[in-house]
Amino acid sequence: AKRSSIGAELLAWYDAHGRVLPWRARPGETADPYRVWLSEVMLQQTTVAAVRPRFENWVARWPDVASLAAADEGEVMAAWAGLGYYARARNLVKAARAVVDDHRGAFPTTEAELRALPGLGAYTAAAVAAIAFGERAVVVDANVERVVARLFAIDAPLPGARGAIRAAADSITPTLRAGDFAQAMMDLGATICSPKRPRCLLCPLREECRGFAEGEPERLPVKAKK
Ligand code: ADE
Repeated sequence: AKRSSIGAELLAWYDAHGRVLPWRARPGETADPYRVWLSEVMLQQTTVAAVRPRFENWVARWPDVASLAAADEGEVMAAWAGLGYYARARNLVKAARAVVDDHRGAFPTTEAELRALPGLGAYTAAAVAAIAFGERAVVVDANVERVVARLFAIDAPLPGARGAIRAAADSITPTLRAGDFAQAMMDLGATICSPKRPRCLLCPLREECRGFAEGEPERLPVKAKK
């Protein structure tokens, strides 16, 4: 893979073909950390299509971190109904209160500080730092894992291959526009580099992709036998 051009090619593709989603900034604007955080938590085990209307209802009711910090927990739990894994909703309120009480109502801006908020794991802290604050954080979810395993033809089985996949993702993460890069990887994984039938002929990274060059990219990533 010509690593140096992957970032630029992917960003050009994202500018033309990235999905327009309600938590994303319009071109030239900066993303709202509250909306980015909320969307990333909702998307943890729910699809983009299912999250969309729930996200819109939520931000109509609690438009910012201060309103969520002041919310009634019972109403928050009711608004979460059907999204599953209720600890996430409880942690949303806890984290909103921590932002208000401990950070004067402004989200902390670095991956390390974000990680210290209730419910923000490694993935969410990296995603918010990159998408809302432009930090060069390495953002790896299941979509990104699949794209990277294919790009670099990493055929060691998961979960053991996670370290190699993260290192490869780090090696292609640009200094500028790291948040757009992360979301471009997610969009590529969702729309082109799909699990079973990747649409390689439409892929902006086809010429860089070792998995494509070696044939059968759809067999990557390999999962350990149970
Ligand atoms: N899945 C998780 N986070 C996402 C994002 N920011 N955009 C698209 N899909 C996602």
